[in-house]
Amino acid sequence: MTVKQAVVRGAGRMLQDRLGLHGLDYAVPARANRLDFMLGALTLVALVVLGLTGAVLTQYYNPAPLAAHDSIRYLITAEPLVTLLRDLHVWSASAALLLVFAHLVAVFWRRGFRGPREGLWWSGVLLLALLFALSFTGSVLRADQEAVEAIAHAVAGANLVGPLGAPLQPGFTPSSPLLTRLYGMHVSVLPLAVVAILALHLWLIRHLGVSAGGGVKTAFRSHLRLIGGAGFIAVAAIVALALAWPHDLLAPGVDGYELTKPDWPFLWIYAAENLFGMNGMLLAPAVLFGFLAIVPLADRVDGRAATITRVAGAVLFALMVAAIVYAAVAPAQVHLDMAM
Ligand code: HEM
Repeated sequence: MTVKQAVVRGAGRMLQDRLGLHGLDYAVPARANRLDFMLGALTLVALVVLGLTGAVLTQYYNPAPLAAHDSIRYLITAEPLVTLLRDLHVWSASAALLLVFAHLVAVFWRRGFRGPREGLWWSGVLLLALLFALSFTGSVLRADQEAVEAIAHAVAGANLVGPLGAPLQPGFTPSSPLLTRLYGMHVSVLPLAVVAILALHLWLIRHLGVSAGGGVKTAFRSHLRLIGGAGFIAVAAIVALALAWPHDLLAPGVDGYELTKPDWPFLWIYAAENLFGMNGMLLAPAVLFGFLAIVPLADRVDGRAATITRVAGAVLFALMVAAIVYAAVAPAQVHLDMAM
């Protein structure tokens, strides 16, 4: 061994001791190195990109209703690097939602929610709800026509649930406008909640392990290396998408009109509104989250209940995809008694 190699190795060992990296030397099932066991970690990678780019965007965004649209228009027209960060933010939000759904479907199919992992599943359901809330509060910050219509829908939905919907009412706190409060939720309450629930999710994974089975083991450190490689490819794909398809900003929003459709993550709810009126806005999420909540209770052991749960999950998933496609191709509809 040369002197240089010895110095590098010594420095590496010292760093490992100081940072406690030996804690990563535990065994995990070798099957956990398959892609379907990496989707959760890839979601985490997308969330990191979201957090980093969001931290920069907050320096440029002005959450006052009359200044919000202009502040985004400014960064799109005058700050090319920040424009790229905005596109990375928007694309990583889409990536996080797509990946979290792929993760959910993979876990559902391998029945990773069965005991003792019920709490792990329920913490995931909370994370999914928080990601939807982050996506909604983020999309309305543009204050363009789509955002104004999304807020009008949210207020109408809040009316339907009575006192529970109070925080989404424009007059909830007289000293702060709704858009500014939604911004507050987007940059503080919701990210903090994600971090807290994610910590619980990861703690449970560390202590319960994943349901990969099989006797063959590998070191967690080598699993991390693979995740690093897959994460790098995911980030490269997000960068490529952001460069190829920059995100649009529509004209400043005007109240009282319903001309647009929501961002793709909400199209299944929009489809339900087309079919059932404003009640569809509550019905569709209630069916999805109600089903997800009962999955670990309905499917505990192999048998009739397990088969029914699996078939119901597959039907629900197919309906959701069909609803998104239908809403994407159907003409825009009025749901709130507004001008078109
Ligand atoms: C922010 C979103 C999420 C992140 C970052 C995340 C992260 C992870 C990671 C890293 C794993 C371990 C490896 C793997 O199976 O992928 C995992 C496992 C798991 N996750 Fe998530 N997850 C998220 C959302 C969800 C959701 C929405 C659900 C279900 C509703 C869920 C349920 C589970 C379960 C049950 C396991 C254990 C799977 C098994 O042992 O087979 N997670 N998650």
